[in-house]
Amino acid sequence: MSDFPLDAQSKPAIIILDFGSQYSELIARRIREIEVFSLVISHRTSANELRELSPQGIILSGGPSSVYTDGAPLCDPSIWNLGIPVLGVCYGMQLMVHQLGGCVEAATGKAEYGKAPLQIDDASSLLNTVVDGSTMWMSHGDAVKELPEGFVRLAHTENTSLAAISCPRRNLYGVQFHPEVVHSSYGMVIIKNFVYQICGCKPDWTTTLFIDESIAQVRAQVGNKRVLLALSGGVDSSTLAFLLHKAIGDQLTCMFIDQGFMRKGEPEFLMNFFDKKFHINVEYINARERFINRLKGITDPEMKRKIIGTEFIRVFEEESLRLGPFHYLAQGTLYPDVIESAGTNLDPATGERVAVKIKSHHNVGGLPKDLQFKLVEPLRHLFKDEVRKVGRSLGLPEEIVRRHPFPGPGLAIRILGEVTNQKLNCLRDADLIVREEIQNAGLYNDVWQAFAVLLPVCSVGVMGDKRTYDWPIVVRCVSSEDGMTADWSRLPYETLEIISNRIVNEVQGVNRVVLDITSKPPGTIEWE
Ligand code: XMP
Repeated sequence: MSDFPLDAQSKPAIIILDFGSQYSELIARRIREIEVFSLVISHRTSANELRELSPQGIILSGGPSSVYTDGAPLCDPSIWNLGIPVLGVCYGMQLMVHQLGGCVEAATGKAEYGKAPLQIDDASSLLNTVVDGSTMWMSHGDAVKELPEGFVRLAHTENTSLAAISCPRRNLYGVQFHPEVVHSSYGMVIIKNFVYQICGCKPDWTTTLFIDESIAQVRAQVGNKRVLLALSGGVDSSTLAFLLHKAIGDQLTCMFIDQGFMRKGEPEFLMNFFDKKFHINVEYINARERFINRLKGITDPEMKRKIIGTEFIRVFEEESLRLGPFHYLAQGTLYPDVIESAGTNLDPATGERVAVKIKSHHNVGGLPKDLQFKLVEPLRHLFKDEVRKVGRSLGLPEEIVRRHPFPGPGLAIRILGEVTNQKLNCLRDADLIVREEIQNAGLYNDVWQAFAVLLPVCSVGVMGDKRTYDWPIVVRCVSSEDGMTADWSRLPYETLEIISNRIVNEVQGVNRVVLDITSKPPGTIEWE
């Protein structure tokens, strides 16, 4: 299990062995939604390691490989004899059949993708209370042709004669479809049947429990030592600040480095909120001059990011030495980052783990080695929506909990070309108008991000009787699930009209407003 270290915080009731499906994380989320703690770990985890973790159930995820090809990812065959209930999903079911002596083949001419009505043959266990003929989401090119000894059919579809199977004596189950996706109308019933009925899990993994356990663990980890946290004002670092403050009080020092690229009013809000209102010790570091000076004459976006990243580390290092010593550095690392950096993603051809580059912007990456911090990362097993719940439960205001994602280098990357104070002020004013009007239209929570971008080209306009020659502002508003793909939001014309009028009337140096109607891909969400 070396490729996916689990720590003391990991006592998952259900373990998902990952075979490279895009839905592995989704299975974990679905199980957490029914208040049972689950984790995704590598399919290479041995039966002995699993025994030590003593989960109440194991789920084998789907995956892009074919079980009968050389190098297909397998699991330790002793897993079948652990006496722990196992549910194989798609590839996971095929693997179960393959390793236990059944037969899996390419579903020639009958590969099944999309929705299919499920015909139930046996509703006694896994499919209990699933309505006959309900829709399930299929996505497979292989099919089970022959069941291993002791297995029975639970359901079929028009094209798949073995769509759900079980071996009741050994507590093994398999489904050819994906119960975790929303298109599977009774998918959650199947997941509940497996988790509650078959594995006997109790719905006891709640936000309150998480907070209580995390506080106890942080206290045990850091003792009476001091902890430093780089606060950005985003939901992750803010939730972390609240959690740690509750756990260790004044042993926590938050450092807020103001690079000068925050949105209008944000630094003031942050200091008022954390320091004054909640008495969480925040050191405000005004580094605006340093950052803007470093960016003089720089127009290349990657160069900007690099300079900002390096300068951030430099300031962080200087200030932590000044305020220290600190033994621990707290980071708002979330579960998707952990999964990504552990590289449970598999190469479909070889089944090998693909090393995924961690996005350098996610955390205080690349800190100098000689700072010698130990890490405190209590959110490392949470998804973003779970962090929001924890934040809310700890008393964070909706303003922070529901805050749209904001890039680490801030407005500096939303100004194309050289960054100057004049452009920053201009963009800040325009950005505030976009956000205010999206809020006024009641759309803030419906969109992933809404912001303004400043383009460094001038065009002619006319204001009053005067000819103008000013910059355009781009309005960028997108809907997205996770930021990986996105579509441009169809904002009401009335809202766009107000935004446009206000920006050209109220923002100095802008005489034109344009709307970005590009999806991602091929565009990105940010302009840089
Ligand atoms: P792109 O522009 O790549 O952005 O489509 C995808 C999502 O990532 C956010 N983003 C960042 N977030 N630090 C962050 O914390 C960064 O440097 C950064 N760059 C992009 C972006 O706002 C969008 O939500």
